[in-house]
Amino acid sequence: MNHLSDNNSQNIFELKFDQIYNYPVCFTRDVFNISNNTLIKAIAAKNQAQAKKTLVFIDKGLINQNPRLLKKIVKYFEHHKNLFYLAKDPVVFPGGECVKNSWDHVHLATRIMNDSALDRHGVLVAVGGGALLDMAGFAAAIFHRGVQLIRIPTTTLSQNDAGIGVKNGINQYGKKNSIGTFYPPNVVINDLSFLKTLTFDHFIGGVAEAFKIALIRDDSFFLFLEKNCSLLKQRDQKAIQETIKRCARLHLDHIANSGDPFETGSSRPLDYGHWSAHKIEMLSEFSMGHGQAVSIGIALDSYYAWRHSLICRTELDRIITALNKCGLPVWSPYLEIMDAKGLLEIENGLEEFRQHLGGRLTFTMPHGIGRSCELHKMDFHIVREGISFLKKASFDLN
Ligand SMILES: NC(=O)c1ccc[n+]([C@@H]2O[C@H](COP(=O)([O-])OP(=O)(O)OC[C@H]3O[C@@H](n4cnc5c(N)ncnc54)[C@H](O)[C@@H]3O)[C@@H](O)[C@H]2O)c1
Repeated sequence: MNHLSDNNSQNIFELKFDQIYNYPVCFTRDVFNISNNTLIKAIAAKNQAQAKKTLVFIDKGLINQNPRLLKKIVKYFEHHKNLFYLAKDPVVFPGGECVKNSWDHVHLATRIMNDSALDRHGVLVAVGGGALLDMAGFAAAIFHRGVQLIRIPTTTLSQNDAGIGVKNGINQYGKKNSIGTFYPPNVVINDLSFLKTLTFDHFIGGVAEAFKIALIRDDSFFLFLEKNCSLLKQRDQKAIQETIKRCARLHLDHIANSGDPFETGSSRPLDYGHWSAHKIEMLSEFSMGHGQAVSIGIALDSYYAWRHSLICRTELDRIITALNKCGLPVWSPYLEIMDAKGLLEIENGLEEFRQHLGGRLTFTMPHGIGRSCELHKMDFHIVREGISFLKKASFDLN
């Protein structure tokens, strides 16, 4: 193949090359037990010839619930020092959105990598929820223009969405994820035993992302979720395990096969329900979790889809009932907040969403259950109707 063509007449060198990415997403329990070789196998598969200098950045919310984990990690790396060794003890970062709300933690993370003399062959192991993984992944991407990254997601949402994909980022200028990169990890390890210590909201939040992808991609998955609402609400292990695996698989399939893993086009199919969700999160100053905000966003867009005859009324009712039965919200007072000009604040969220994507305003809607279509205009009198409808539905259901 000709990778560099020479057009002398126009003084242009035309450059073309491909970069193949591949990384495993593994499922296990008790990943830092010295007899668990999931991490070792994943690293060995990457042809690591000599022991790697490693740093571990870990989520404080996780450590608060598992105080002995830090020692366990040190012991684990000590045991496997022929493969990788710790440059220093695991570093604890705050968990939750505050870790990605400023540059401070990115500066600290890169400073620690620098002080530990981590080079481009060194490994950063990030352990925590989606927020910590987003911040640490961004730091890993920019330090020395990229060090190796292993993600160990510890919330439902990070195991089936935030921690398994190719994006990272922090929030700036009052906008979610306005700074960040596309930087695929080298390995992802989902340890289901971490989910035990999550609060109910953080446990169930990830199920909203499962509804999102089921509604636009896989009707049989929606049926599964609908059937298992009560079990998911009771934190049934089998039900959540299957939910995470199926949801992760659909996300990964999109990244690998959509033809646009780094989202260069105008459309963002996996952001169904997210244009309002991101704004709701910001308006709540992050007192509302990402998953809960996505659940409300899905309900609102489903109403919109019904009003455009993209789904029928029975389907709308099934979606709202299933979200509610799982313990996810379908309405919030943040939907009704107005700006000084009398516009709904979430209306401003739509323009911010368009700017984030670039190009033509494009949002994904369900078209029947399990299929999707794209719309390019949002009619706000229907959105207002939807807010009133969901407010009533929410009061009636609870
Ligand atoms: N990069 C992406 O592709 C992508 C996709 C979706 C969402 N996200 C981002 O992910 C973030 C949300 O992630 P999240 O839902 O995982 O929430 P989170 O990271 O905010 O974590 C929620 C809380 O759980 C705590 N925690 C983490 N693991 C725990 C455990 N095992 N036991 C007890 N507590 C634990 C954290 O300290 C935090 O307080 C948002 O910032 C969102 O924008 C990123």
